[in-house]
Amino acid sequence: MNDRGREVLATVRHVEKSYDGGRIAVLRDVSLTVRAGEMVALWGASGSGKSTLLHLLGGLDVPDRGELQVCGLDPRRETDCLRLRRRELGFVFQLHNLIADLTVEENLRVPALAIGTPTTATAARVRALAERVGIAHRLGHRVQDISGGERQRTAICRALMNAPRLLLADEPTGSLDEATGEAVFGLLRELAARDGIAVVLATHERRFAEACDRIVRVRDGQLQEITA
Ligand SMILES: Nc1ncnc2c1ncn2[C@@H]1O[C@H](COP(=O)(O)OP(=O)(O)OP(=O)(O)O)[C@@H](O)[C@H]1O
Ligand SMILES: [Mg+2]
Repeated sequence: MNDRGREVLATVRHVEKSYDGGRIAVLRDVSLTVRAGEMVALWGASGSGKSTLLHLLGGLDVPDRGELQVCGLDPRRETDCLRLRRRELGFVFQLHNLIADLTVEENLRVPALAIGTPTTATAARVRALAERVGIAHRLGHRVQDISGGERQRTAICRALMNAPRLLLADEPTGSLDEATGEAVFGLLRELAARDGIAVVLATHERRFAEACDRIVRVRDGQLQEITA
């Protein structure tokens, strides 16, 4: 199917965002469209605004101006935002944000609890996803006792628990060594290619950006599509 036939999952139109009462202008009139199954790199230097844009897409922050639509919902509306975060999208943070003294399995159950999935269905999904990402042997371990790569795999699993259509990943390989980073990136790549999940990945590493379907350069508050 060509790009035009794929469902649009996120639209950003003329969005502006600044901090500190307008003194730090981070995004100036940016626009972006993300379609089902594509992997889009937000590539830019530290401080360029990659996380800011992901936070706006994920309803973790609100724009000053402009339009946003994510999975047919408006992240600025409270009811839409709840639905979006519980059911439509998964967010993977640079530092995983798991609950350290719970086990891997307990962490994975949290999103399912939030939407009231029956326990038996949750158990089956936890097992299936853990096997998929290679952490099934760690399900009973506490997060504080597992490796950085295993934590990031757990975080990806948690983001997938409620079967999102869109995955927002904020430098998920940033704290990992090269080989572990490659493996985690490969997993995200596979989710986009095989499962049709749209992935928006913030990264400052060119090699990861180049392995995505599209590269969107974030610089001076603007987005620029780069053709590889
Ligand atoms: N809550 C905030 N209050 C004030 N300034 C902020 C806030 N969040 C981000 N900023 C500033 O906005 C700019 C963009 O930050 P952002 O975190 O989006 O960059 P980034 O591209 O994700 O950087 P990195 O690669 O280091 O994660 C930076 O100058 C940052 O200091
Ligand atoms: Mg960031």
